[in-house]
Amino acid sequence: MNTLTLEVNGERRTVDVRADEPLLEVLRDRLGLTGSKEGCGIGVCGACTVLLDGRMVSSCIQLAVLADGGRVTTIEGLATAAGLDPVQRAFVECGGLQCGACTPGQVMAARALLDETPHPTRAEIVRWMSGNLCRCTGYEQIVRSVERAAEPAAE
Ligand code: FES
Ligand code: FES
Repeated sequence: MNTLTLEVNGERRTVDVRADEPLLEVLRDRLGLTGSKEGCGIGVCGACTVLLDGRMVSSCIQLAVLADGGRVTTIEGLATAAGLDPVQRAFVECGGLQCGACTPGQVMAARALLDETPHPTRAEIVRWMSGNLCRCTGYEQIVRSVERAAEPAAE
């Protein structure tokens, strides 16, 4: 076992992990943060997306030991005492919140995009979000939600 120290959603956490343990497993099974979901488990679907030092990563293929000392933000860490993150609000308002398996990853990916590019074009949104798969109703409401979150009034 390896001792890992992370800042998770603003809290310092220390856990013992296996050398081959993915960050997703550490978050869900050791830290009880089950908001991040496992879809494919091979870095393809985006359901497990979290932010590591501000950059989005697929936590199912991110080795936890390589994240030692890092700052992790999960879906549980987005809302503050002041309320939902603008991305979360927009997903609710625009119907982007379609299913519990994909939405957390989509919200985290959108947050990463807007942190890097606060006012992306529709094409930039579509390209960025293409790593987050949906198998239910489609992508229109998701793209619209990200557009809404990027509107100046949403910030
Ligand atoms: Fe990680 Fe699909 S579960 S990318
Ligand atoms: Fe989960 Fe469409 S949002 S399958």
